[in-house]
Amino acid sequence: MRLDIITIFPEYFAPLDVSLIGKARERGTLDVRVHQLRDWTHDVHKTVDDTPYGGGPGMVMKPEVWGEAIDTVIGDGAPRMIVPTPSGRPFTQELAQELAGEPWLLFTCGRYEGIDSRVIAEYGSRLRVDEVSIGDYVLAGGEVAVLVMVEAVGRLLPGVLGNAQSAVDDSFAPGSMKNLVEGPVYTKPPVWRGHEVPPVLLSGHHGKIARWRRDQALRRTVLNRPELAAELDPETLDKHDRRL
Ligand code: ADE
Repeated sequence: MRLDIITIFPEYFAPLDVSLIGKARERGTLDVRVHQLRDWTHDVHKTVDDTPYGGGPGMVMKPEVWGEAIDTVIGDGAPRMIVPTPSGRPFTQELAQELAGEPWLLFTCGRYEGIDSRVIAEYGSRLRVDEVSIGDYVLAGGEVAVLVMVEAVGRLLPGVLGNAQSAVDDSFAPGSMKNLVEGPVYTKPPVWRGHEVPPVLLSGHHGKIARWRRDQALRRTVLNRPELAAELDPETLDKHDRRL
């Protein structure tokens, strides 16, 4: 998968050199290219923003520089374009799965009050463009949101996770545990500072372990994510779940 990221802060993307994503880049599974937006300015100050039409606080990113940058980066190609913004559609595991199936993604990181909307209109008629929010809070710019999305998408690519089952068991992953968050996990030693590992996990009884894990996932979902629990389809709950 090819990923292009256009930003005025390429330094933000240093973490993409390490861990799972770093290894995927070394192996060639991921081809990440980070571009400095200011390289497409023509003035000595390398200006990328200006005051908003209609007045108001802050600055808006200028369309001309974005246009030149995107045209150069995409050439004759047609990546799917992702614009991080708090006013976008929510980034979910489902969207991460969908993006993981794309051959080429382009992320455009806005700063200040955002990018002049004509940029989205212009490329919206040529590419598939999604404005995407990673949550209901406002960051200083799109860079951290893009890091989040690249990590969530990157770990779903074939061969990126050591154990492919990890992505299958994820909270929010499609399947029988869909809409349930994951339950607690334990490793050795069996007792730590007086806290015991739940004995069922040491029992070797796979059926009982699966049942226990599902109960824990349901319990945590009810406690931490009541809005998700309310959405659970009674049809997908088994007899034991309904007694909980
Ligand atoms: N830029 C600023 N805040 C953001 C958010 N919550 N999601 C995506 N991009 C953003």
